[in-house]
Amino acid sequence: MLRLPDRKSRDELYRQLGNHIWLDNAATTLPPSDLLKDVASDLGSNLYANPHSNSKPSKDTEDKIEEIRRRILQFFGANTEEWDVVFVANTTAAIKLLVECFCDYAASKKKGFRLGYHSDSHTSLVGARELATQHDCFLEDSDVDTWIEDLARDDRSWAQLNLLAYPGQSNMTGRRLPTHWPTSVRQRCHRSNVYTLLDAAALASTSPLNLSDTSRSPDFVAVSILKIFGSPHLGALIVQKQAAEPLSARRYFGGGTVDMVITIGDSWHKKKSNSLHDALEYGTLPIQDIIAVGHAIKCYESLFGERPMSRIAHTTSHLAKMMADELSRLKHANHRPVIQSYSMLEDGIYKSQSQGPIIAFNVLRPDGSLVAYSEVESLAEEKKINLRTGSLCNPGGLAKSLHWGPDELRQAYNCLGHRCSDPTPIIGNKATGVVRVSLGALSVESDVTAFIDFVKKTFVTRRKDGIAQACAQSATGDYCLICTVPSL
Ligand SMILES: Cc1ncc(COP(=O)(O)O)c(C=O)c1O
Repeated sequence: MLRLPDRKSRDELYRQLGNHIWLDNAATTLPPSDLLKDVASDLGSNLYANPHSNSKPSKDTEDKIEEIRRRILQFFGANTEEWDVVFVANTTAAIKLLVECFCDYAASKKKGFRLGYHSDSHTSLVGARELATQHDCFLEDSDVDTWIEDLARDDRSWAQLNLLAYPGQSNMTGRRLPTHWPTSVRQRCHRSNVYTLLDAAALASTSPLNLSDTSRSPDFVAVSILKIFGSPHLGALIVQKQAAEPLSARRYFGGGTVDMVITIGDSWHKKKSNSLHDALEYGTLPIQDIIAVGHAIKCYESLFGERPMSRIAHTTSHLAKMMADELSRLKHANHRPVIQSYSMLEDGIYKSQSQGPIIAFNVLRPDGSLVAYSEVESLAEEKKINLRTGSLCNPGGLAKSLHWGPDELRQAYNCLGHRCSDPTPIIGNKATGVVRVSLGALSVESDVTAFIDFVKKTFVTRRKDGIAQACAQSATGDYCLICTVPSL
């Protein structure tokens, strides 16, 4: 049973929604109002201080932060003996921190740093390639298996420090990627030669992330706490302690991460060695945000039950299936489809094992030509429907789903002025992006029906007698377009 059964009770829990239909949960879901109240009340009545000071409030704050560190690991099923969590600003910062550590470690061992990354990766993961001495981009999942096999067989792989990086779920299409790669790496490669990084930003926001079995878990997990709870604005790098060696050699140090620094007469320092996070959390910790994580977990447990993410996964996949099914059924008066989807599986069936609650698509006119995604977005906005359009920071997903080659993309950039942040939505009959609707913890059935209703009323052509063709079985007589899209 869903804990948020209807729109009315949901609207009371998420007061900031007003009459908006929030279908941009993959960008960020919204915090329940209770969570914001709990945090304000805690921060307004308790004295929290910088844990780097020595006062009693500082010591208490440090204890509280360590307690929350344990809670967040527990939330992901991770044992504190085996895992550590490093708080960072967001997922991007977690990836950047890890990759910079890898660069410095490889350099300290006089090795190269080789990055293999999946083409479904977010831009923040793709950018890591600029720090690597060699990088490989995998088009297909099977390319990852081949890469692992090749590394296992090739003695020259020891001349490099190797990192396999991939998202748990595409932030563009919602496709869920295989989970067996960490096990494959462990079985075939030497532990200190090949490491795995899971970018769980999209996956963990609507799905339980279970790190209880270290033999099957990635070495490193980058996660957004913001995308799970809607608040606080925080990310985390979760690290298997037995894989932590490459994190020991980061050359940069900052306040809070060192036991001793000499600046005059010598350049010498000693890093903190108590724990992994001590040596990697630079400067003053985001104390209030970390305190808020404790409230966020508690709030989700009270709203969604003992295993909140399982409940959210169940609800969102039910709603996504409903959304995908309804969208795929829509037909224009001439029987042609209204939606071209990049998320639904080939046989048209939504399966939560392999698909998160995200649907990426473009809208088609009756003649099969595209409605610009920017137009869909502004028409949705008029109805207070919030969704996301464009290439969604997923360059590989864009190229694969919409068939863009590198030369065409360069030409679009150089000659037509197309930019991710200032796009030309259609170039030569091809879309440069998609419309993405994404469900989240706050979603209820009426959000789906409201969106389907919007698409039907706005884009589906109808017969002259006014009966929506989506409902009509036989196509006879003349048709007219009564859509509200001016260009239709
Ligand atoms: C899969 C994935 N990776 C990385 C990011 C970047 O996350 P953040 O904004 O937390 O840095 C996102 C953001 O949507 C994402 O979906």
